[in-house]
Amino acid sequence: PAFRLEPTAAPVAANERTERLADPGFGRVFTDHMATIRYSQALGWHDARISARAPLTLDPSTAVLHYAQEIFEGLKAYRLADGSTALFRPQANARRFQNSARRMAMAELPEALFLESIRLLVKTDRDWIPDGPDGALYLRPFMIASEVFLGVKPSAEYLYMVIASSVGAYWKGGARPVSIWVSQDYSRAAPGGTGDAKCGGNYAASLAAQSEAIRQGCDQVVFLDAAERRWVEELGGMNIFFVFDDGILSTPPLTGTILPGITRDSIMTIARDAGLTVREEPYAIDQWRADAASGRLSEAFACGTAAVVTPIGSVKANDGGFAIGGGGTGQTTQRMLDTLTAIQRGRAPDPHGWLQPV
Ligand code: PLP
Ligand code: COI
Repeated sequence: PAFRLEPTAAPVAANERTERLADPGFGRVFTDHMATIRYSQALGWHDARISARAPLTLDPSTAVLHYAQEIFEGLKAYRLADGSTALFRPQANARRFQNSARRMAMAELPEALFLESIRLLVKTDRDWIPDGPDGALYLRPFMIASEVFLGVKPSAEYLYMVIASSVGAYWKGGARPVSIWVSQDYSRAAPGGTGDAKCGGNYAASLAAQSEAIRQGCDQVVFLDAAERRWVEELGGMNIFFVFDDGILSTPPLTGTILPGITRDSIMTIARDAGLTVREEPYAIDQWRADAASGRLSEAFACGTAAVVTPIGSVKANDGGFAIGGGGTGQTTQRMLDTLTAIQRGRAPDPHGWLQPV
C-alpha cells in the first residue's frame, strides 16, 4: 500500500523543540509523527499512514495485552557531516524484524514497507535530530497482536508502528565504563526459546535480573547460558566483546539464545577490515575471571544501537568481583567506537554501503 501523509496541524513549536533537544537523554523526547500499517488476514497489509503521534485506544481484550505477541526493532538516523540524513543498515533491521515475526507466529512485514515507513517518518521529523556528538533519531518500529480475542492462538490482526525518539548518550552522565553483574539465579533465554527474537517478553524477563544488578551497585546485568550456567551470553540489551593481550577480539557465537546484533556484526567487520582477528567462540565466566587476573584479557565492551560501544570496567558476581584492564576505556574499544561512529556520521568512507540516505 502507498502511505497517506497526514502531517499534524499542531507540531511542537521550534523554540520548544530546541529546548527539548538540549539534553534529550534516551527515550524520553518524542517527535511529532508516527507511522502505522495494519494487517488483517482478509486485507493483508493496508492503511499505511504517517500521522500525528497520538495515544492508542485498545480494547481490554486485545491479544497483545494478554499473551505478549509483540516484537520490536531499534535503529538510528544520523545527521551527517555534510548536513544530509542517513539510516545505518536499515535492511538488516528489516530482516531481523521478519525473523522475530516468524518466531512469534506473526505476519511478516515486507522489507520494502519496513524501509519506506522509516524513511518517510525520518523525512517528516528530521528536524528532531539533536546536535552534538551523540545526537541521533532513535527509530522504534514495533508490531502488536491487535485482534480482540482471548483464545491462545496467533492473532488474525496486527498493528505495525514506528515512533521516533530524539536521543543523546544512552548512559546518564554520558559515555563511561560500566560495571556489570553476573546473574546466577536468572536466565535470559534457553535453547529453543525466544533469545534470538527481539520480542518484548525477553525484556520483561530481564528486568528482575537488571534490578538485582542495580541492588548490587552495578549498571547492567550479564547473562550466562541457561543449560550450564557457565558461558557468557550477552547483556539485557547489548552484545559483548572481549579483547585479549595479543590483539584478538572474541564474541559469543550466535547459537540461538542471543540477539544477532547489527552493531556486533558491524564491529566484527570493522575489526577484520583493520587486520584484526575476530573469533566467535564460547567464553566461560571462570576463564574470564582468570584471564582478567593474569592480564591475558585486556578489555571488554558491550555494544548495541542504543549503547553504541560501551567499555566494561568491572565485573561482579556472587563469588566476588574483578576489574578489567585498568577499569577505563581500552585502546581497541576506543578504536572500534571511533571507527564505527565515523562511518555512521559520514566522517569516514563507507566501504560496505551501510549508510542509506533518507
Ligand atoms: N542484544 C540485545 C538483547 C539487544 O536488545 C540489543 C539491542 O538491540 C542488542 C543485543 C544489540 O543489537 P543491535 O546492535 O542490533 O542494536
Ligand atoms: C537497542 O539498542 O536498540 C535496544 O533495543 C536495546 C535497549 C536497551 C534500548
